[in-house]
Amino acid sequence: MYSQGLIGADSHTEETPEFLDAFQARIDAEEKIEPNDPMPDGYRRTLVRQIGQHAHSEIVGMLPEGNWITRAPTLKRKIALIAKVQDEGGHGLYLYSAAETLGVSREQMTEELLSGKAKYSSIFNYPTPTWADIGAIGWLVDGAAIMNQIPLCRCSFGPYARAMIRVCKEESFHQRQGYEIMMQLAHGSKAQKDMAQDALNRWWWPSLMMFGPHDADSEHGDQSMAWKIKRFSNDALRQKFIDATVPQAEFIGLTMPDPDLKWNEERSCYDHGPIDWDEFWRVVKGGGRMNRDRITARAKAWDDGAWVHEAALAHAEKRATRKVAAE
Ligand code: 3HC
Repeated sequence: MYSQGLIGADSHTEETPEFLDAFQARIDAEEKIEPNDPMPDGYRRTLVRQIGQHAHSEIVGMLPEGNWITRAPTLKRKIALIAKVQDEGGHGLYLYSAAETLGVSREQMTEELLSGKAKYSSIFNYPTPTWADIGAIGWLVDGAAIMNQIPLCRCSFGPYARAMIRVCKEESFHQRQGYEIMMQLAHGSKAQKDMAQDALNRWWWPSLMMFGPHDADSEHGDQSMAWKIKRFSNDALRQKFIDATVPQAEFIGLTMPDPDLKWNEERSCYDHGPIDWDEFWRVVKGGGRMNRDRITARAKAWDDGAWVHEAALAHAEKRATRKVAAE
């Protein structure tokens, strides 16, 4: 996704069969690859693409929930939501920093997001019309994110793996605050329970789509697993998420919106109905209800904050000049 011009200048290691075998041997031995280590261009490009997309998702993901901060029903809920949205901003920053170690700048990554070249998670293109959506996002979206991200703590690229440790701890708090909102609504008045069920109905399928296309259609999956960037396939993680989440819904008396969902004794996991991949690709390609709003808001924030970047960069440059003069 990121153009070759954005990849670091030191990326031109000659990729002889000996070099590629030695690199794979390091991966197979579970060694961490660090930014200045020689690495195949494809490995670097895959990481820049994935970490960049992940960082954009964290930042864009602040928008659907940020929109509820002023309307949270109690002070306690407002404090928790502000903390969660701030955490997501922090996750974006760790991830942009991890990607920057590979020779791409935050400005370049943001330009690719705003021009539509770089992706961000499909899930953030759905609207949040009710307070129960905030519960459903925490429970399901952060729940799916944790399932996908815990294995990333063991990713072969050191800076990404280390960044994910704190991210996962914070996502766990987010998942619990969301589930607790859903639990309270599900045990509330009929109108509250209906609101929770309606949010579950709208967020369940998009949450399953977060894991990406089925393995047979996953373009990068096999290579990313061979490089131990990904540790599990898209379908394997989706299945783990379904198996963990169905009992949670049952526990609070909500019903999954999937008539084909049933426990499979033989496979020891749930079978589920077909996922609407046409919807997924439509949303990924910009046709979701909120795509345009999300990118417009992101572009505005980027433009409005330009003076802050400029001031910070000017300050950093001044300090660097002073340091050189003093040496
Ligand atoms: N949304 C948008 N695009 C998606 C997608 C999704 N949910 N799932 C897959 N895609 C895209 C891929 O990026 C790829 O397109 P590209 O070649 O243009 O990049 C294409 O669909 C084919 O998919 P693959 O399976 O081949 O892609 P990957 O091997 O990269 O697997 C992934 C996709 C599982 C999402 C993987 O990239 C990944 O694990 N990423 C890190 C986690 C991440 O980005 N999470 C974002 C979730 S939200 C979040 O973290 C915020 C939290 O606060 C909730």
